[in-house]
Amino acid sequence: MATSLCYAKPLKPFSLRLPQTQNPQIPTQTTQIREAETLTITGPTQLSGHVPISGSKNSSLCLLAATLLCSNSCLLHNVPTGLSDTKAMLSILRSLGAKIEFNERNKEILVNTDGVGRVEPCLEEMRKIRGGFFVIGPLLARFGEAVVGLPGGCDIGERPVDLYVRGLRALGAAVEISYVFFSAFLPILSQDSAIRQEKVGDGRVLAHSANGKGLVGGSFHLDFPSVGATETLMMAASMADGVTVLSNVAKEPEVIDLARFLNDSGACVYGAGSDKLLIKGKCQLRGCECYVPPDRIEAGTFMLAAAITRSLISISPVTPSHLSCLIDKLKIAGCKITRCNNDTLEVSAIPENVCENLRGFNVRTSPFPGFPTDLQPPTMALLTTCSGSSIVEESVFDRRLGHVRELQKLGAKIQVCGSTALVFGRETRSALHGSQLRAADLRGGVALVLAGLVAEGTTQISGIGHIGRGYENLDTKLQFLGADIKRSIAMASQL
Ligand code: UD1
Repeated sequence: MATSLCYAKPLKPFSLRLPQTQNPQIPTQTTQIREAETLTITGPTQLSGHVPISGSKNSSLCLLAATLLCSNSCLLHNVPTGLSDTKAMLSILRSLGAKIEFNERNKEILVNTDGVGRVEPCLEEMRKIRGGFFVIGPLLARFGEAVVGLPGGCDIGERPVDLYVRGLRALGAAVEISYVFFSAFLPILSQDSAIRQEKVGDGRVLAHSANGKGLVGGSFHLDFPSVGATETLMMAASMADGVTVLSNVAKEPEVIDLARFLNDSGACVYGAGSDKLLIKGKCQLRGCECYVPPDRIEAGTFMLAAAITRSLISISPVTPSHLSCLIDKLKIAGCKITRCNNDTLEVSAIPENVCENLRGFNVRTSPFPGFPTDLQPPTMALLTTCSGSSIVEESVFDRRLGHVRELQKLGAKIQVCGSTALVFGRETRSALHGSQLRAADLRGGVALVLAGLVAEGTTQISGIGHIGRGYENLDTKLQFLGADIKRSIAMASQL
């Protein structure tokens, strides 16, 4: 444990009150983005060639958090180091005292958390990404306490942390959320000109092991198979004293990646990929070497790019079984999908392979192995170009249809009722026409890029900082495939 020995003895439980002197800043937006950058796309475009898929964003964020559990160093290969979310997670680790070495060219990161000397990461970085919240699990498990900010990330609906909190309490943690209140005058003309108290969710979560010694094994049933809560509780339970049983857990591939990493570090995690996890806690984990698997959402996005542009491209590396739902839907639409070898897929929607036009299909998002919510927005972009009408039902997040309004600016015909959208397909893809758009979240933003590829004329997209959170070099990769897409700094008046 080297220098982390100061934390080997759990710290004394601290007061759960925020010190008076602290005055947390209220952010004007959850995610800070580089508004000034825009993408300009001239369409319609046809793509061809091969595209390399980066390492998984969501796995990387979680594995980087898990390095906080391990003594010695952890070596991670194939990390998408170009993503702003990865950079934010690395800043969070650094703010705790972790030593990080980079090999940008080889996408390798060496993390040593033996020198971690704080349990409160930089709140500003935490507010940028949802994944930053994961550190609460390993900090509590290894050091006995954690003070973290409520998470940021895309504004796609209510994103509570109740499952994390209740799950950690089941493992013997005392957890309290300290909300921040601020006062605002109601509009002067309002009849009620009283000062209103607003509760905003950028407070802190203060947690420590209730017994003053460390977390203890326990049982917890998740009401919903939340990916982040499952991962956080797995990390916490890996170093809890005793056996933990977690039921109705997420079955996403990223959960399996984390279980592999934890087991390679000396943990005992059984059942990853099923809906129940059994975890025998260990008092120490040792860093290991691991390879971050390819990003299934980026791979799926490029498959949809091939479909919407009626092109033929190949992608690798990819794990086809992680994309079965999308593959089935694209086949229903009329695409030809060929597995060239273990990790390469060829997607063809060229007119010779597709009879007349791609057909629309219905989609309902759900946890893995269901249709991924992260692919819902780019899939909707595709459906606007298919024949017939399609129903898209978002069942994971309650406000994940923000891209509809922007797609409508391109001429797409979509009606929304609650979390369901009825997409009226067009008989010819040239029906979309270029426009000025604004990306308001990561996956919604990439949907606009895909639609821009087939829209007639010029499409300009602002707010592309969101896209850089989850897609490495998206514009360069599309350029290599033949797209006319340029990144530029816009004048303020263009935004
Ligand atoms: C992760 C992914 C994100 C993906 C999502 C669903 C990361 C960094 N992000 O996000 O890309 O879209 O899984 O596949 O891995 N919920 C609660 N209480 C909680 C936690 C979650 O009610 O304590 C709800 C959420 O509001 C949401 C649903 O559960 O409606 C799914 O969220 P969750 O699986 O937790 O998503 P994330 O882990 O945030």
